Amino acid sequence: MNLADLNKIARAMTAPGKGLLAADESGGTIKKRFDAIGVESTENSRRDYREMMFRSKDAMSNFISGVILYDETIWQDAADGTPLVKLIEQAGAIPGIKVDEGTQALPNCPGELVTVGLDRLAERLAKYYERGARFAKWRAVIDIGHGIPSMTAISVNAHALARYAALCQQAQIVPIVEPEVLMDGDHDIDRCVEITTRVLNKTFQELRLQRVALEGIVLKPNMAIPGKKSPTQASIAEVAEKTVRMLKNCVPAAVPGIAFLSGGQSGEDATAHLDAMNRIGGLPWPLTFSYGRALQAAPQKAWAGKTENVAAGQQAFTHRARMNSLASKGEWTADQETKKAA
Ligand code: 13P
Repeated sequence: MNLADLNKIARAMTAPGKGLLAADESGGTIKKRFDAIGVESTENSRRDYREMMFRSKDAMSNFISGVILYDETIWQDAADGTPLVKLIEQAGAIPGIKVDEGTQALPNCPGELVTVGLDRLAERLAKYYERGARFAKWRAVIDIGHGIPSMTAISVNAHALARYAALCQQAQIVPIVEPEVLMDGDHDIDRCVEITTRVLNKTFQELRLQRVALEGIVLKPNMAIPGKKSPTQASIAEVAEKTVRMLKNCVPAAVPGIAFLSGGQSGEDATAHLDAMNRIGGLPWPLTFSYGRALQAAPQKAWAGKTENVAAGQQAFTHRARMNSLASKGEWTADQETKKAA
């Protein structure tokens, strides 16, 4: 392992004014997104949609540091035969790959999940590296509910994240370590902080135990945020302040960068929260975005599967990428949302 090179990539992934596009929806998830806009999910429609984003020159060159791809996409070519990975590289962004194989029910823990995909991961990583991937992603899912999460679920998921991270570094690939505490329940923001703190602490304990070099990872956490069904929602300032405190308590300064997931927040909320955190400032790591839904909901709607809407889709994508770029520097303001891109 060359740690200096891993660190260089991790820093490029979280470089000032840039963040990650999570375009790694599985077949099932992208079908759900396409159903919502009335588009049939086929190999070609998935390709066309993602090609539209990767060919958004302004967004890809100026605001997006890297793209997380799904296995199907990393092997696909654009309509003109150029590999999609090349489009990303030509724009100056870094290709990455989701390598977990989804979740399975965790035995003895009703309602809880464990992320799988460690078997043969070393061989898969070597092939992805050869194709151009320089970072990877593995997502653990922790749900908050009555009597959950159990320590068992937190522990096995942290163990798997660290196993994955160690294998990535051995393959000269930067692991994005993503322990996602879901915002699906009716819990309040303090319960989210309590559980996320426990999850982050366990995750870093496992990373250390398995000798993962913290200078060669990127952390992808959830924000401190109330459940969607909570009767007490939180202000932007409260989310920002509690998230920053939580991260300062749990994340070593050696970590080169933190890139949040959006987790079901609206595009604008995800931007406003990131901006408010960066305005607090004085943090040991850059805070940026690694958004899926919060970057793609607008372009999906604008595109709606029609060739004649490609320019509108690209404009919507570029706008959200630019807003999040500003937020990553603490320079976003709500009135910039309505100013049309030149
Ligand atoms: P969301 O931003 O839609 O949560 O997706 C990010 C991601 O990669 C989740 O694994």
